[in-house]
Amino acid sequence: MNDRKSVDIIQDALFSTSVFKEGGERTLHQSYIPEILKFREDNIRRITQNFRPLFLTRNRGVEGFSTNIALTGPAGVGKTVTARYTIEHLHTMAERHHIKLYTDYKNCWTTRTKTSILRSFLRDRFGVASRGFSDEESTDILIRRLNSEQAYLGLILDEVSVLPQKDIRGFIHLPEEFGAEHRISLIMISRPTEWKVTLSSMVSQRIADVIQFQPYKLEETRKILDYRAQLAFKATALSEDLLEMVAEISDQTKNLRHGIEIFYRAGRAADQLKLNEITPEIIRRAKNDVFPEMRADILEELKTHELFTALSIARRLHHKGITATTIEHSFKNYRIICEEWGVQPNGEAAFRNYLSTLENIGILGKVTKGVKGRKGVRARLTIHDVPAAVLIERIEVFLSKRFQKT
Ligand SMILES: Nc1ncnc2c1ncn2[C@@H]1O[C@H](COP(=O)(O)OP(=O)(O)OP(=O)(O)O)[C@@H](O)[C@H]1O
Ligand SMILES: [Mg+2]
Repeated sequence: MNDRKSVDIIQDALFSTSVFKEGGERTLHQSYIPEILKFREDNIRRITQNFRPLFLTRNRGVEGFSTNIALTGPAGVGKTVTARYTIEHLHTMAERHHIKLYTDYKNCWTTRTKTSILRSFLRDRFGVASRGFSDEESTDILIRRLNSEQAYLGLILDEVSVLPQKDIRGFIHLPEEFGAEHRISLIMISRPTEWKVTLSSMVSQRIADVIQFQPYKLEETRKILDYRAQLAFKATALSEDLLEMVAEISDQTKNLRHGIEIFYRAGRAADQLKLNEITPEIIRRAKNDVFPEMRADILEELKTHELFTALSIARRLHHKGITATTIEHSFKNYRIICEEWGVQPNGEAAFRNYLSTLENIGILGKVTKGVKGRKGVRARLTIHDVPAAVLIERIEVFLSKRFQKT
């Protein structure tokens, strides 16, 4: 009896009705590349144009082909998916023109050094076990291999600012090690703050093209999410109203990933509850789960002045186009906020302590590199993945409750 029951559970979990189409859940994974990328035509075209010389045999001639380009823009605006989409199609196109073009995608958060990136490429593509080989040896194998096959490599380095600076330089100078005939091209992806602070001065002379990705407008977000919902869900699973609701949430943060993640979580929640349709309540819950670092209990643990501090940064970053702020600026904001809530502000030393608490908890990201200004190197403060709008909303609601009680 018990046995049958267990089997039933498995049978049920596998085959009971789902709000997802067959294979639909997979289309919401981060690695999925949709067939159509709406509103990114210009970016696709511009990336492609940088690879034109590769397809013109006359120009390729004795010099080979190599280009380095950079994609930059805020979180969740399609940098990664557009780069992967374009390189995949360039690969197909190259095949058609009898050009051997290897392509690879590496997220530098996962593969954190030049050596490990080269090694894993050699292993996956050429079956070369280069474990224990030095950087020079790996590079040498790669060069000889590409030369002997008359092949090219187009490599996407995502979140490139995570690599040690010497490795970034190493990659940038890689084409030169080929001697006369260049064979390696790079697409480097980075958020604007990291780009400005750590990368642009270092590599900009060697970048052929810097392509900026702008956030999607509400109307665009709605259309993209509509398309993604159609790929993922059965026709009756998501109503127009809920699509609108998710589009608005995603638009608030200007981050399309939030919309896609809400779909994913909402779909799974509906399946668990055995519902044929996603409900507003499920969407609301999914919205909260998408920012786990902002669980309400984290706010509860924070002291009032720490909340003021977080708010001072969030407000500044909520302004359009501002991706990072400074301690001086935030401190001014903090004093204003204290005044708003009728609380005596503390001094700058205390304020700096609040900042490090917030940093330790992970609410605050700090780009420690700093910018050289008149006052020497200053730390730049960012809130990485929690959108400023969400942070502000939650802290203010929370503060109101706290102040009501006392
Ligand atoms: N034009 C589009 N059409 C369909 N899906 C899109 C489009 N743009 C982005 N997406 C989807 O939105 C999500 C976020 O996009 P992506 O991961 O490329 O953002 P990103 O700019 O690389 O963000 P981050 O800086 O955080 O890495 C992905 O699931 C991606 O598939
Ligand atoms: Mg990305």
